[in-house]
Amino acid sequence: MTNPLTFPSNFAFGAATAAFQIEGAAKEDGRRPSIWDHMCTEPGRILDGSDGSVACDHYHRMPADVDLMASLNLDTYRFSTSWARVCPDGGPLNTAGADFYSRLVDHLLEKNIRPWLTLYHWDLPQALEEKGGWTNRDTAYRFADYASTLAEVLGDRVPIWTTLNEPWCSSFLSYAAGEHAPGLQDPSAAVDAVHHLLLAHGLGIQALRDYDSNLTLGITTNHTVAHPADPDNPRDVDAARRIDGAFNRIFLDPIFKGEYPADVLEDMSSAGLGEVCRAGDLEIISSPIDVLGINFYNGGAFTTLAEDEPIPQPTNAAGLALSTPFVGSERVVGVDRHLPHTHMGWEVDAKDLRILLNRLQRDYTGPAGIPMVITENGAAYDDKPDQEGFVDDTDTRATYIRDHLKAVHAALEDGVDIRGYLVWSLLDNFEWAWGYTRRFGIVRVDYETLTRTPKASALWYAQVARTHQLVPLEDT
Ligand code: FCB
Repeated sequence: MTNPLTFPSNFAFGAATAAFQIEGAAKEDGRRPSIWDHMCTEPGRILDGSDGSVACDHYHRMPADVDLMASLNLDTYRFSTSWARVCPDGGPLNTAGADFYSRLVDHLLEKNIRPWLTLYHWDLPQALEEKGGWTNRDTAYRFADYASTLAEVLGDRVPIWTTLNEPWCSSFLSYAAGEHAPGLQDPSAAVDAVHHLLLAHGLGIQALRDYDSNLTLGITTNHTVAHPADPDNPRDVDAARRIDGAFNRIFLDPIFKGEYPADVLEDMSSAGLGEVCRAGDLEIISSPIDVLGINFYNGGAFTTLAEDEPIPQPTNAAGLALSTPFVGSERVVGVDRHLPHTHMGWEVDAKDLRILLNRLQRDYTGPAGIPMVITENGAAYDDKPDQEGFVDDTDTRATYIRDHLKAVHAALEDGVDIRGYLVWSLLDNFEWAWGYTRRFGIVRVDYETLTRTPKASALWYAQVARTHQLVPLEDT
């Protein structure tokens, strides 16, 4: 028997959630609609026609949920605050809404769980969307106001702040692909959103730094590893370059290097990437950060179709035709690598995570001298509960998590500075356009009774978090 892999004692194990996906209480204590409340009212947008009005009812069950986290030995908990609750309609502080997060933070601290706050996990106040949302430069300034407002309330107790979660989703998936709120299919709007989101990030960092220079500040970006389908075929190499540009470099180059990559500006010139960038913006966007949060689910292999090859029409959760990923060429498509898939249809290959972490340190975080934390990683599987509501996901979700933790460990041994791993997600929850049909939780939520039941993956993960060792799955 070989000894289980051991993680450093200060490596944090945690879990992540997002406000709209778990809280419910959509109309309580002064909360006003966000773009996702609005999206859910539009027929055909959400696969099961559901919404976030109850979700996991975390708003009312928060103390018990924190106790659950403690029972799973979590070191840290990453949650997001609902802008529409804290500053309804994007306006001034709503004390009743902010109080919820104040109580949450107090409970976490009581249980010795470090709170990690994300300011924006996609739920823009609908009132701001009606003024153009992320296509409107003013939204970035409203975001900085929201950041300062919340810092006044929680800055004394929350040590780690993330500005944005996955700006790729809030721009391309939301304004070009139409799958996420506000559901537009307009490439020009998407590239304007990219810039304004980055500007919001930079202004947010500055606002939080002004509040307290000791806070640990960062952003969470989602990444893929883009392989050419055939590394000897120049068209495939170009396809991989475009995907890498559109997912990875378009966000990290401005943040770490203060510039948009020249090839991506060229790829997206017809949509006008960078046209809304004003003098001084890139200095704001590249304000120093202290940690980079990485969300990773899958990599992929890409090709460029020849002129006479038909473009496949992927469909989103709601069955709508999607434009091919917006990379400046509709002929760039993913190819099947014949790997196992999760219930999302996403490929499983943990090796890509090790490749990604090495590359990000080499090109971005290493030169900046900052660490990374995996702020999301996990998998949806079609869980079958037994009569007690217990899910044995040993061979599915727990194996996925174990394999990705092995990849993180390998990257640590490669010399990559990674300080933690947060599983997505603590609870089954509202999976955006997929509604409640996709379950990512290590804890099952019965949506009829709202009962929480830890799955096999949670019981195993609790041991990993307690021992900092990758204990064998069969020992649980
Ligand atoms: C990420 C999101 C998170 C969840 C997972 C599955 O892109 O940040 O809210 O939807 O995917």
